[in-house]
Amino acid sequence: MKLSSANINIMVKACRKASKTLIRDFGEVENLQVSIKGPGDFVTASDKKVEKILIEELQKARPNYSILSEEIGKIDNDDSFRWIIDPIDGTANFLHGIPHFAISVGLEHNKEIICGIVYDPIKDEMFVAEKGNGSYLNNQRIRVSSRSKLEDCIIFTGGPRKESKDREMALSEYKNFSSKVLIPIRKLGSAALDLAYVSAGRCDGFWQRGLNYWDIAAGIILVKESGGFITDFKGENEYVQNKTIVVANSKINKEMIEVLK
Ligand code: IPD
Ligand code: CA
Ligand code: CA
Repeated sequence: MKLSSANINIMVKACRKASKTLIRDFGEVENLQVSIKGPGDFVTASDKKVEKILIEELQKARPNYSILSEEIGKIDNDDSFRWIIDPIDGTANFLHGIPHFAISVGLEHNKEIICGIVYDPIKDEMFVAEKGNGSYLNNQRIRVSSRSKLEDCIIFTGGPRKESKDREMALSEYKNFSSKVLIPIRKLGSAALDLAYVSAGRCDGFWQRGLNYWDIAAGIILVKESGGFITDFKGENEYVQNKTIVVANSKINKEMIEVLK
């Protein structure tokens, strides 16, 4: 089984096209690590190039849809449909030649995310979700994990943010997550892939403060459609209005919120 609605096909095509440039540029970035100037300007240019290809492809197929994209900002058009784009999520990894980053594209209809794609071009892993039709990794259905004991879990985060309550927890690899257990915390450097990995059951939860909408738009539908829970730190506000997100499978989400709030 696979997802094949018209919008999904458009998103997949745009991501595949943009990823050719991304893969080529990643090879160049690896070479630039040893140069005196370093890869900084090259990465900025690459980010913009990838964004341009994505926008051109999406606009060709859907000229009336609005766009919110990290580098160029807003293009206002039809206000019921909007693409939410992060051309490279995990830029710091990309810059350092670490092969863990992704293209993230979400689609909103009337302010609700209805489709999402997170594509890791280096591993050729395409995570796709559509409202009501589930989440898939390279055309195979995926589900969140069913681990219920915190000591068996792996939790991702992207912190720490300055002076936040969870800073201590984010800083340590192993931390007292509750009074009794120690659990491994991982920081892989791409919020979009963190969410995709929760949806595929590779890790069991994720939390982060201070995110931007384009970091998580596609990941939100991936997690929802694979059976995961998304809230803020109070356990409310499913739509993450305060840029703070706690994601988990249904067995550990309450305990995670308890610890973080
Ligand atoms: C960043 C990544 C990272 C997260 C940062 C984001 P970028 O996005 O998602 O994992 O910790 O908060 O800004 O800058 O690589 O697109
Ligand atoms: Ca991002
Ligand atoms: Ca980015």
